[in-house]
Amino acid sequence: MVSVIFPAAGQGRRMRAGRNKVLLTLGGEPILVRTLRQFARVPAVGECIVVAGAQETAEVEAMLAAAERRAPLPPWRVVAGGAERQYSVANGLAACSKAAEVVLVHDAARPLIRPAVIEAVIEAARAHGGAIAAVPEKNTVKVVDAAGVVVSTPARSTLWAVQTPQGFRREILCAAYAQAAADGFLGTDDASLVERLGRPVHVVMSDYRNLKVTTPEDLVMAEALLQAPEA
Ligand code: CTP
Ligand code: MG
Repeated sequence: MVSVIFPAAGQGRRMRAGRNKVLLTLGGEPILVRTLRQFARVPAVGECIVVAGAQETAEVEAMLAAAERRAPLPPWRVVAGGAERQYSVANGLAACSKAAEVVLVHDAARPLIRPAVIEAVIEAARAHGGAIAAVPEKNTVKVVDAAGVVVSTPARSTLWAVQTPQGFRREILCAAYAQAAADGFLGTDDASLVERLGRPVHVVMSDYRNLKVTTPEDLVMAEALLQAPEA
């Protein structure tokens, strides 16, 4: 059985919508609901843990209950998040069933994830312990110092832009989160916590549709992609 944690407890500051962006509507349904619907299409998914802002748990529960009346969802639960994404995921992890062999973490703000990518991440996480959805970087990326001067240009062929889902055997993810908490380490994704343990994390080819709705342009792009046939 696979558990999925959906961090949804952010404030969506960069979206400047005056409310949590994952509650905004995309193609007629809230972004968070759209995201869960993609996981409903993957039979291995046995539970969804939605991590909502402490002030928003009741609203999110009502939203999911209404969505479930329109079309079935996998079993879901809402737990309260923390001030950083990592703390929100830690709360979600604490609520995961011990029966889950694999735990996925997926940003609620990535509603365009394809079921085939979810399945590939699950399979690779089972096989290798850790796996993350990613795409080859399209831009040239530079390391720049505090004075705004370029330090170096990593070879683009070695760079991958990482997304979610990120999936791990449950005991590996639990160990990584416990170690990060003990060390006061704050990472920008889940895999970075696992990498600190020296555990391998494999990259799974995703696609450029799986954007994270972050700024107002992303919402325009996501609406357009919803209408566009998958390449
Ligand atoms: N998230 C969370 N708990 C936090 C911060 C973020 O669960 N304390 C979630 C967000 O809801 C989002 C995902 O983590 O689904 C990725 O974070 P991000 O895109 O940064 O969303 P926000 O933090 O909401 O946006 P911003 O940084 O612009 O405020
Ligand atoms: Mg954020």
